[in-house]
Amino acid sequence: MEKKISKDYLVNFEKELDPQNPENSKFPAKVIGYGEISSIFKIDGISGWIYKRLPLFESKDQARKYANSYDDYVLNLRKSGINLPEDFYKVIEGKNKFVLYLAQKEILKEDLCQNKLHSQTDEQNLKMLKKIFIEIRKIYDFNQNNKRKIELSIDGQVSNWAIEKEELLYFDTSTPLFKINNVEQMNPELLLNSTPAALRWLIRAFFLQDVMDRYYNIRLVYIDLVANLFKEQKVDLIDSALVGANILLPENIEKITRKEVEKYYKEDKFIWQLFLGLRRTDRWVTNKILRKQYEYILPGKIKR
Ligand SMILES: Nc1ncnc2c1ncn2[C@@H]1O[C@H](COP(=O)(O)OP(=O)(O)OP(=O)(O)O)[C@@H](O)[C@H]1O
Ligand SMILES: [Mg+2]
Repeated sequence: MEKKISKDYLVNFEKELDPQNPENSKFPAKVIGYGEISSIFKIDGISGWIYKRLPLFESKDQARKYANSYDDYVLNLRKSGINLPEDFYKVIEGKNKFVLYLAQKEILKEDLCQNKLHSQTDEQNLKMLKKIFIEIRKIYDFNQNNKRKIELSIDGQVSNWAIEKEELLYFDTSTPLFKINNVEQMNPELLLNSTPAALRWLIRAFFLQDVMDRYYNIRLVYIDLVANLFKEQKVDLIDSALVGANILLPENIEKITRKEVEKYYKEDKFIWQLFLGLRRTDRWVTNKILRKQYEYILPGKIKR
């Protein structure tokens, strides 16, 4: 859905933005989240909305195509029965790239499941995790019912969900990975735009396909979600969460063991640390040596 509001504002915002110092811009904004490929802003003076900025595109066409895929993706997520926040988007011509701004209704901090995980009792947390497993299962059922004509991916991690008025909301929609008749609709090279050019071959060769495939596989999505409890320092919940996940796994799929979750966590941690490390190197080379503007906003050290 595209709305005709505040395009001019975003054009000026983009013009004035220094991705390294968004708070010092003429249009000050706070970074409230760091995606792997997007950065998430709350712009001062615009209340109730947040903006995910994707500076990925060489042409307007490329950005439009991505936006159309985004439309298809959120439409089908909704069809599958998942609740999403209200949204709209704008394509803006930036200095070096075309930029897609995906706007979403702002979710209150205390409604984010990741925060709830640290404010709720264990019992409440397990209930919340079970609700998330149920939502993820809806995607699996949707894909089965559509006989893979259309197949949706989902990144089920706790950090991608919120609860508003007892209802789960999924908001990590900015990477529309889905297949039509078994053909991936996302051009993976676009995702690689956010990685250091010199090392793309390495990511392409060893990680990219794996990372993209995992979001289509309910078993791996569950493993990913449970393994994330290590990172969230909620190790005590893992065994009970696994029971919940295994109950919701379709019958023909092998149950998940704790061992697998541990192994997965170690490997995943390695992949993302490498990825982020490479991007930091890239930022350094770009800023200090090539003196080009670095387009991406990187998080500081992440505790894992
Ligand atoms: N609509 C929203 N309202 C409030 N905060 C949000 C909203 N969307 C995202 N955030 C914050 O930003 C963080 C990252 O958002 P999101 O999950 O959409 O991106 P990501 O996982 O980092 O993205 P990417 O798909 O680019 O890798 C969230 O964990 C949350 O803290
Ligand atoms: Mg996310």
